[in-house]
Amino acid sequence: MIGLRELTSDDAVALQDIYGPESIGFLGRGPMGPAEAGSYAREAMAAADQLPRTVYTVGLARKGDLLGIVKLRLDRPAATVSYILRADAWGRGYATEGVRGILALGFDRLGLPVVHAKHHPDNPASGRVLTKAGFTPTGRVSGFETYLARPRQPPRPGHRRGRSA
Ligand SMILES: CC(C)(COP(=O)(O)OP(=O)(O)OC[C@H]1O[C@@H](n2cnc3c(N)ncnc32)[C@H](O)[C@@H]1OP(=O)(O)O)[C@@H](O)C(=O)NCCC(=O)NCCS
Repeated sequence: MIGLRELTSDDAVALQDIYGPESIGFLGRGPMGPAEAGSYAREAMAAADQLPRTVYTVGLARKGDLLGIVKLRLDRPAATVSYILRADAWGRGYATEGVRGILALGFDRLGLPVVHAKHHPDNPASGRVLTKAGFTPTGRVSGFETYLARPRQPPRPGHRRGRSA
């Protein structure tokens, strides 16, 4: 059983494995070290306490093992989803499950009308994750393949942005 959960300060070591050399190839950054992992976890926890909450940086975990991160950002002009998975967890549908979970949060609980995502053109597996999770390709912008997803049902009036994952 795989699911989304909030990060804690105990996740710093797992974060370094997730943002390891194999996973970061398309992200334009280096592997994550201990100091960055600690501040990443602290920032995610602080974001979870913000009201209204604008950033959901949540862990994708299976049987207590933190395998990846899924992010929903509401602090930019458009709501965006992104994700990263530890390399030894690829190819088992976990990223797709994580993206479906965060879209359910965005659409069903937060009432978002649209969510955007993008991936590097040399990472077609990431595009497959997005289309399996319900995204539609919209073209290429600044060298990235772009996508959007809308709720299956239009958002009901009265939805508010929540604070928990
Ligand atoms: C993108 C990534 C996270 C996918 O995670 P994952 O859990 O392996 O994805 P899933 O198993 O849910 O689905 C992968 C799909 O891509 C397909 N796929 C794999 N390699 C592919 C390729 N080279 N071309 C096209 N499709 C490919 C798989 O067949 C699968 O589709 P299917 O279920 O129809 O067979 C991971 O593979 C990866 O590339 N990580 C590198 C960096 C990263 O994390 N990028 C995300 C930021 S955008």
